[in-house]
Amino acid sequence: MRIEKLTKKFGSLTAVDNIDLDASEAQMIGIIGPSGAGKSTFLRMLNRLTPATNGKVLVNGKNILKLEGAEKRAWQRDCAMIFQQFNLVPRLNVVTNVMLGRLNRHSVFKSLFNIFGKEEIDRAFNSLERLGIAEQALKRADNLSGGQQQRVAIARALTQEPKMILADEPIASLDPLSAQVVMQSLREINERDGLPVICNLHTLDTARTYCDRVVGMRQGKLVFDGPPAELNSTAVKAIYGAEHEIDESVTSTSINEERLDNATFSHDLNVAAA
Ligand SMILES: Nc1ncnc2c1ncn2[C@@H]1O[C@H](COP(=O)(O)OP(=O)(O)O)[C@@H](O)[C@H]1O
Ligand SMILES: [Mg+2]
Repeated sequence: MRIEKLTKKFGSLTAVDNIDLDASEAQMIGIIGPSGAGKSTFLRMLNRLTPATNGKVLVNGKNILKLEGAEKRAWQRDCAMIFQQFNLVPRLNVVTNVMLGRLNRHSVFKSLFNIFGKEEIDRAFNSLERLGIAEQALKRADNLSGGQQQRVAIARALTQEPKMILADEPIASLDPLSAQVVMQSLREINERDGLPVICNLHTLDTARTYCDRVVGMRQGKLVFDGPPAELNSTAVKAIYGAEHEIDESVTSTSINEERLDNATFSHDLNVAAA
């Protein structure tokens, strides 16, 4: 996927400002930036939930921003989206929620009557097994913890057989342990299935721990693009602003040995800011 000059304006506000990004490798890319930087809008344009004002998104030479009808739906199926609030159907059981990932492959008639073949049911159970939640298959989705619900959402995404995964702050509502499990699942899918994952994240340390590449956004602009190792205090300031007090140990989603590194890093930041 190659993104060229991607721009979104809401009236006079430029939410995403002329972004160029080459995401053709099967990397795990973390997008970080302060609230309002344009991260969600950026992802939503990629899978056509929000129309772009300007720019191109080229996939196999095709500008997917121009696709309509069946081609547009096929593209939306190809890039599965994972949301902060899981977007499950609360009253349906887990395995039915997962099979909803197949719905957009069916005719309206089949969809209406909820007809799934054995192969599709097996696929759903396999995805659940892979995410470690097969034993929850028959429970109502709203009886699961947040972390389990997000794993159901990932299983649903897998069942969709996507070519890439987009995740908008998938761990922002989760406790640290669940957050770790969810990020590890996304990473495992990226590595084992070779699927590109683009993931909006609200904490730096998560991007550092799980991503091959970090993209920093600020006020709609791309202000950093590189491996986590290059995310030094200068880069962090470019993303979050010099005035921004960053204490990673407070916002950290990691729970073990990372703490130490973060503490050191926060200290470096404070020294740099002083
Ligand atoms: N539907 C909308 N209408 C008007 N402004 C919007 C809309 N969606 C987002 N914005 C604005 O666009 C900017 C970027 O928002 P968003 O993409 O949600 O940022 P982030 O996900 O980084 O927090 C913000 O200033 C936000 O208020
Ligand atoms: Mg957002």
